[in-house]
Amino acid sequence: MEKNLELTSSPHAPHIIMLENVRKTYGMQGEAVQALKGVSLTIKQGEYVSIMGPSGSGKSTCMNIIGCLDRPSAGTVLINGQNTAQMNERDLSRLRNETVGFVFQQYHLLPSMTVLENVMLPLRYQGLDTRKRRELALAVLEQVSLTDRMKHYPSELSGGQKQRAAIARAVAANPKIVLADEPTGALDSDTGALVLAMFADINRRGTTVILITHDSTVAAQAMRRVRILDGSIAEDFFAEGNHD
Ligand SMILES: Nc1ncnc2c1ncn2[C@@H]1O[C@H](COP(=O)(O)OP(=O)(O)OP(=O)(O)O)[C@@H](O)[C@H]1O
Ligand SMILES: [Mg+2]
Repeated sequence: MEKNLELTSSPHAPHIIMLENVRKTYGMQGEAVQALKGVSLTIKQGEYVSIMGPSGSGKSTCMNIIGCLDRPSAGTVLINGQNTAQMNERDLSRLRNETVGFVFQQYHLLPSMTVLENVMLPLRYQGLDTRKRRELALAVLEQVSLTDRMKHYPSELSGGQKQRAAIARAVAANPKIVLADEPTGALDSDTGALVLAMFADINRRGTTVILITHDSTVAAQAMRRVRILDGSIAEDFFAEGNHD
């Protein structure tokens, strides 16, 4: 496994994500569920990693911890060199807003805002004026070919358009990490392929991409494939030369 890690595209890239013996236990009061049972995972800046595993194996729990939405019950988590286990909520959300962009299966766009307003949202943490935020949002909307839908509300878009808007929102603030939890799960295969091409493009620009999926065709998009079984990493596999 150690050897595989050294094969990544850029051998001297810094570790953007380090999980060491991470445990997560839910429901301490009633029946405790051990969702992660000692996960160690090191990911370098610029890697493209897929995470596979059966339902309930701990994928989303792992993503929430990497994405600074949650903290581990035990173990060490360093995101962009910062130890999240010791952070308060405020510092954790600051690290999240500065470092991570999220894409979900069900898009999670705010229904009362237009596409443009949704994409401008993550930029509000950057201390930019409205004009600059609008400019940046328009640029990413152009990248996902949604300029002509920017004044529309999410309910007026197709599934693929919603997911493209969600991707634009995730990358608007130029995060170091993009985390996607089943981003193609609700899409037909052609639209899913288009969305995957966008993640490949985002990764080519140097962003670390982590893609959670139960679909092995989708997972094959990533050079590195991690499999989680029952709260533990069962496989961490680096596919050489199988990347466009
Ligand atoms: N907030 C919570 N409280 C209690 N148990 C939880 C909570 N979130 C997740 N779990 C439990 O932790 C385990 C891992 O859940 P997780 O959501 O990480 O799985 P998953 O791999 O993402 O599954 P899926 O493919 O169905 O999305 C499951 O047994 C789940 O029931
Ligand atoms: Mg999940």
